[in-house]
Amino acid sequence: MNKTCILGIETSCDETGVALLTVETDQEKTTFSYTLHGERLASQISLHNNYGGVVPELASREHLKCLLSLTEDIFSKSKKNKHDLSGIAVTAGPGLNGALLVGTSFASGLAAALNLPVIPINHLEGHILAGFLDKKNEFSIDSFPFLVLLISGGHTQIISAKKLGNYNIIGESVDDAVGEAFDKTSQLMNLGYPGGPQIEKYAKLGDDKKILLPKPLCNRDTLNFSFSGLKTAVLMEIEKNKFNKDLNFKYDLAASLQSTISDILIIKTRLAIKKTNFKRVVVTGGVAANNVIKKKLTNLANELGVEIYTPPRPLCTDNGLMIAWAASIKILCGNYKINSQKELIVSPRWSISNI
Ligand code: KG4
Ligand code: ZN
Repeated sequence: MNKTCILGIETSCDETGVALLTVETDQEKTTFSYTLHGERLASQISLHNNYGGVVPELASREHLKCLLSLTEDIFSKSKKNKHDLSGIAVTAGPGLNGALLVGTSFASGLAAALNLPVIPINHLEGHILAGFLDKKNEFSIDSFPFLVLLISGGHTQIISAKKLGNYNIIGESVDDAVGEAFDKTSQLMNLGYPGGPQIEKYAKLGDDKKILLPKPLCNRDTLNFSFSGLKTAVLMEIEKNKFNKDLNFKYDLAASLQSTISDILIIKTRLAIKKTNFKRVVVTGGVAANNVIKKKLTNLANELGVEIYTPPRPLCTDNGLMIAWAASIKILCGNYKINSQKELIVSPRWSISNI
């Protein structure tokens, strides 16, 4: 098989993502390129913003409300029809149990009706392979092995990606994920959810040297992270300044937080490259959308002579395209046997090292 047409479905958290892709590979199965026939994303940000974070029950209900219409919309506007599909790929974990169940039930129902296989995809593998969705829309299997810095709302991991489907976690957060550090401090500063884009906006107007924040585990020879102390330090700064109505205080705090987080990521990525000697690094997940973080990591990669790959900004956060893309590569490489249909199980805590 040298070509697949896959519908990808993502519902692990607060974005409903659906995408329809054709992926082609060469005879040697080395290079993969895709054609996008349609993509839809329904964000629940405004809904969850009222609560300061994702409310799981509401997330499930929203996925249920919009999955069918997003899918119908893609097919009605594309030249492809459902009978062109080779399979339906869906995020089976990690993520919110109810939200995952909605996506996988929808995918199973549609697949049964069309007599198609369902391909369960690990959300984190979707993020990893999205790292290669750059402007050329091309991925070479020879990119393996590489290092991954996975920075999202649910995960902060340094991964050694040896080959397709073989990932080893070599460092991770012992408490909050880095995206959570953005989200929780944004909430403390009354800037809303999700915190990352808001903090990035405020940080542009602030002085990142004004407020000193801690960098836990940074002077230790470990690839693990700790972010929960940042939240407490931010809370203490807010308490100290509770009568300070000057907006500059919020700008400076946002700038300091962003700069502290990027310093932590730089220190750990530098150490990981030194320890592993990898010549390529993929930086992916929602936090990779942050321009300051991306620029600093690009500078680090240039300094160390390492190639850096990041998804285009809209594909850093959750989307259906990365799920269809990951499934296509796995099928075309023979990494996932399309006819070996097993029962589709939702795994809210599915580890990337156990694919
Ligand atoms: O990958 P993602 O969409 O969902 C998970 O798999 O968790 O990541 C969402 C996270 C949120 O914590 C959000 O605040 C963060 O990514 N994020 C950002 C930016 N855009 C999104 N963090 C920093 N700067 C941004 N521009
Ligand atoms: Zn994600």
